[in-house]
Amino acid sequence: MDKTVIARTPEEMEEIGVDLAATLDHGMIVSIIGPLGAGKTTLVKGIAKGLLITEAVVSPTYLLARDYDGTIPLHHLDAYRVDSLRELDEVGLVDLLPPETGVSVIEWPERIDGLVELSDLLVQIDHQLADERVVTVRQTTPIARESRGRTPHSTPPEGRS
Ligand SMILES: Nc1ncnc2c1ncn2[C@@H]1O[C@H](COP(=O)(O)OP(=O)(O)O)[C@@H](O)[C@H]1O
Ligand SMILES: [Mg+2]
Repeated sequence: MDKTVIARTPEEMEEIGVDLAATLDHGMIVSIIGPLGAGKTTLVKGIAKGLLITEAVVSPTYLLARDYDGTIPLHHLDAYRVDSLRELDEVGLVDLLPPETGVSVIEWPERIDGLVELSDLLVQIDHQLADERVVTVRQTTPIARESRGRTPHSTPPEGRS
């Protein structure tokens, strides 16, 4: 079932992340969808806080992924500059989808075919008036869940080279 929360400030967005962190476990993929400046990285900072990560979380945009140690490891991925699954595969990041240990949280997951469907949690951030953000958290359906294990790696999208 979907859960919708309003974040009126960056601090409120972080709090949503803290709450979300309590529901996370090893092997999970969390997709965060929303336009540039929506607050995706801010939400990940909250998730990191909830996982008791003390290191500062910075956007992984240029590195594609950053790992942090907390109560469970956090793998923070950003697919903004990724054009294909192949690129993720080349840098070994497909192993994080899903991760063996820890949780993978990914910004711009919609840029990679099939990834949103593999996610355990789908967070959509709608940027509306001024600083207000509408955050919808959706647990994936049992059907999507059953397909887990079939990672994008083992089922590459057709028509791509
Ligand atoms: N309610 C809010 N929730 C999250 N961020 C907000 C909010 N209001 C203002 N902001 C600001 O918007 C920006 C969001 O940036 P960031 O989290 O990096 O977005 P994204 O990763 O989606 O591009 C930050 O500068 C943050 O301070
Ligand atoms: Mg970001």
